[in-house]
Amino acid sequence: MNILLLGSGGREHALAWKMAASPLTDRLFCAMGNAGIAHEAQCVTLDIADHAKVIAFCRANGVDFVVVGPEAPLCAGIVDDLEAAGIKAFGPSRAAARLEGSKGFTKDLCRFAGIPTAAYERFRTAAEAKAYLHAHGAPIVVKADGLAAGKGVVVAESVAEAEAAIDLILGGELGEAGAELVIEEFLAGEEVSFFALCDGETALPLASAQDHKRAFDGDKGPNTGGMGAYSPAPIIDPGMSARVLAEIVQPTLRAMNAMGAPYRGVLYAGLMITAAGPKLIEYNVRFGDPECQVLMPRLMSDLVPALLASRDGVLKSLDLRWHPEAALTVVMAARGYPGAYGKGSVIEGLAEAATLEGVEIFHAGTKQDGGRILADGGRVLNVSALGKTVSEAQARAYAAIARIRWPEGFYRHDIGWRAIAREK
Ligand SMILES: Nc1ncnc2c1ncn2[C@@H]1O[C@H](COP(=O)(O)OP(=O)(O)O)[C@@H](O)[C@H]1O
Ligand SMILES: [Mg+2]
Repeated sequence: MNILLLGSGGREHALAWKMAASPLTDRLFCAMGNAGIAHEAQCVTLDIADHAKVIAFCRANGVDFVVVGPEAPLCAGIVDDLEAAGIKAFGPSRAAARLEGSKGFTKDLCRFAGIPTAAYERFRTAAEAKAYLHAHGAPIVVKADGLAAGKGVVVAESVAEAEAAIDLILGGELGEAGAELVIEEFLAGEEVSFFALCDGETALPLASAQDHKRAFDGDKGPNTGGMGAYSPAPIIDPGMSARVLAEIVQPTLRAMNAMGAPYRGVLYAGLMITAAGPKLIEYNVRFGDPECQVLMPRLMSDLVPALLASRDGVLKSLDLRWHPEAALTVVMAARGYPGAYGKGSVIEGLAEAATLEGVEIFHAGTKQDGGRILADGGRVLNVSALGKTVSEAQARAYAAIARIRWPEGFYRHDIGWRAIAREK
């Protein structure tokens, strides 16, 4: 079949790499893609916010199946529009994508379905939000309701910090995403990501993963989209996986069905493993980035039939096989990220780095300029590696990075430290 992938980052490069290897794939297109994706797919210039243009492209090029990478087009209803035009698409409908598009929606769903999560309330005015804050004290967490590209959450250590966050969010700093907010209880524990492929009824768990959100070594510095990840996450053993499915994921699917918005696509649960068990921090309605860059190398089965089964509602009869090896990815970012950074610096040594055993380099923000690869974003490369252990995967990823010549970039030196400490 002919497949169109929507998105331009490291997640999409990993998906393109995996889908290009499928015997089911004839032509693979990607809008917009990047210099790495261009090796796996035909990159096309297409404004993915313009659904009519995407539909027209599919019709003109015989596209049978569209795979949506990022959350924004899902929340904007691109899957509904494609399906209405008779084009199969992987991902949730607009109504189901509210699980990521509105934190308040998901919190209410948890309350309704008895899903373990932090205690909370929703607010539209600063006065009411602050009254709740003063009644509860710090530490406490303040979250903008809508999509905020990772900039909508403040884990406040003091009441003053929480007040400032309330004023900032409701003050219009985040636009429409901040018209409403959630204030919730601070959860202590270890954070982990859990992924399940869903078809409305069935949830098929994928591998677990952990990422590193802070910019600098030792989990210090500003929050980012993610500076690295590894899989599996040792804290998700089979018993914990069964609990997460039974207590969190399956009740969510039942509740979404009950409201007439069955959930199809990847459900990415951000979890806190607390002393009282797993609790839901938030849902995302797509693969994690950079978690996808460790899940795809570990996936032994063909991805394309799995995505189709999610769309077609036949996941029950599907079985996915995983490599027993661990995978780890290190993000190389432009100096200055997540603040201001420059674009256009030259990256060398990629081909040589990619020849190392177990190594796969996914591009996140690059562009081709003649024979040269240029940095073209904040997060620029994901250097992924498989290994018998997380330690071995880590050693391989850093050995590859040592061959990449890009003085304008930086990366963390301790990705996977928690899992490696456990291995030792
Ligand atoms: N209730 C909570 N208790 C402790 N930490 C939290 C809580 N909610 C969120 N966080 C922290 O803030 C981060 C961002 O929150 P999240 O709800 O995942 O929002 P988003 O990913 O949309 O920015 C989480 O990854 C977690 O580290
Ligand atoms: Mg999150």
